[in-house]
Amino acid sequence: MDNDALVAMAFEAREHAYTPYSHWAVGAALLCSDGTVYGGCNIENAAYTPSNCAERTAFFKAIYDGHRDFEAIAVVGGPEGQPAPDYCAPCGVCRQVMREFCSLDDFRIILGKSDGGTRVYTLRQLLPESFGPENLA
Ligand code: THU
Repeated sequence: MDNDALVAMAFEAREHAYTPYSHWAVGAALLCSDGTVYGGCNIENAAYTPSNCAERTAFFKAIYDGHRDFEAIAVVGGPEGQPAPDYCAPCGVCRQVMREFCSLDDFRIILGKSDGGTRVYTLRQLLPESFGPENLA
């Protein structure tokens, strides 16, 4: 699956966002190695702390279903009910969740915006000098 197709799926996932507090809607589309794609959206909470980001929603759905191998994730975000004029990069917590399951150099993190622009990063670029499972092995 190419980057633009995955970004389009992230925009569809963004439609499911529940964002009554920040009014910042994010969508993610996570591509598993077998070709399955999981959508995720941010889901906020009146107590704030229990809120979940779009990326982790997608990861947790996929992991619950038994997936452990991932190729790429597309992320889009911006003001609720409006186009996404800028790139929305994953927060630090989501980067660390990716670190648990994804290759530092092969997993593609694709940021998209409404004008069709994309940027692609490796996890090593977004989370340098990281701590992961092999550190505890
Ligand atoms: N958010 C995400 O879902 N993913 C990101 O990459 C950045 C931030 C959410 C969390 C919160 O619901 C809202 O965006 C504002 O921070």
